[in-house]
Amino acid sequence: MTERLTIPRPDDWHLHLRDGAMLEAVLPETARHFARAIVMPNLVPPVVTGADARAYRDRILAALPEGADFTPLMTLYLTEQTDPEDVARAAASGLVTAVKLYPAGATTNSASGVRDFDKVRPVLEKMAEIGLPLCVHGEVTDAEIDIFDREAVFIDRVLDPIRRATPGLRVVMEHITTADGVDYVKSQDRDMGGTITTHHLIINRNHILAGGIRPHYYCLPVAKRETHRLALRAAVTGGDARFFLGTDSAPHVDAAKETGCGCAGCFTATNTMSLLAHVFEEEGALDRLEGFAARHGPAFYGLPVNEATLTLEKQADPVRFPEKIESGDGPVTVFDPGFPVHWRVAQ
Ligand code: NCD
Ligand code: ZN
Repeated sequence: MTERLTIPRPDDWHLHLRDGAMLEAVLPETARHFARAIVMPNLVPPVVTGADARAYRDRILAALPEGADFTPLMTLYLTEQTDPEDVARAAASGLVTAVKLYPAGATTNSASGVRDFDKVRPVLEKMAEIGLPLCVHGEVTDAEIDIFDREAVFIDRVLDPIRRATPGLRVVMEHITTADGVDYVKSQDRDMGGTITTHHLIINRNHILAGGIRPHYYCLPVAKRETHRLALRAAVTGGDARFFLGTDSAPHVDAAKETGCGCAGCFTATNTMSLLAHVFEEEGALDRLEGFAARHGPAFYGLPVNEATLTLEKQADPVRFPEKIESGDGPVTVFDPGFPVHWRVAQ
C-alpha cells in the first residue's frame, strides 16, 4: 500500500479568492499547497478590463503571506462591452491567462455576463487569433430549463455552437458535473479542456437534499445524480490529459450560506489535496493524481510543470481539518467530505 506520494506542486485552474478581508483569509489556504491558480473575476464589480486585472493582481500579491510561493493567473470577465484590443493587450503583457464567460445570471455575481453571444464574437475571434483560452461556466440560465439539465442543454445550445463558429478558440469547460460534459470534452480532439472540482467527485445531489438540506454542499453547477459523479471519477482517473483540477473553491461566510436563500459555493481550498488523494486511492489510481492536479493543466495552458514538489502522507488516524476558517467578514465553513480522510500534506 502506498503511504507516501510526491508529485509536482499542483495548480488550481479555477479558484475564487474574493477581495478585502475574505481574500486575506482564504489566500493562505490555497497558497500553502498550490503554486498557481486561475483566479475568477466575479468580484462586485467584476474584473472586466486589463486595468481591473492589474489592480486585483496587486491586491492578491499584497495579501500573500510572507515567503509564499504562489502566482495568481488572472482572468477577465467577458461582457458584451469587452474591447478585443484591451484583451489582446492584457494577454500580450502576460497579465491575463484566460477570459471567463458567464452566461448572465448563471451564478454568484454573474449579472454582467453575456446574454447575446453575437455581441462577443469579435472578442472570441481575437482570442482564437492570439491563443488566449476561454473559460466557460457551462450552464444555461433559462428559468424553464430544469437546474439539473442546465449543463447538458448548455452544451447543445451554446458551447457546441461557439466551438463550431470559432475554430481555433481554446476552450475550457469548467467544473464539469455531468457525463454529458465529460463526453463532450472527449469528443473534441483539439483546443478543448475540462476542469473538475474536488467536491463533485465526492458528493451527489442526495448529499445536498436527503435527510435535511445541507447548504454547504450547495454550489453551481449543482451536484447531479450518482451516475454523473461516477463519470467524473472515471474521467479524472482515466489519465486523459483533457481533464485537470479546478477546485472552484468558493468561500461565502456562514451567514450567507445558512439562510433562507443561501449562496452557491463550496470552500475546499483547505483540504482539497487530501481529499483528492483519498478519492484517487479509492479508485486504485493514486498514480494518476499527478497528471490531474499537476501536469494536464500546465500542458493545456502552455506553462511549465512546477519544479517544486508536494508530498502526501497517509497516517493511521484521520486527519483533523479545521471546521471553519475565520475571516474579517465572518466564519467560512470548510467542505466536510462526510468520511474520515487519512492523507495529509506533509509539511
Ligand atoms: C461561485 C461563487 O461563489 O463565486 N459559486 C459556485 O457555486 N461555484 C460562482 C461559480 O463559479 O459558479
Ligand atoms: Zn467558480
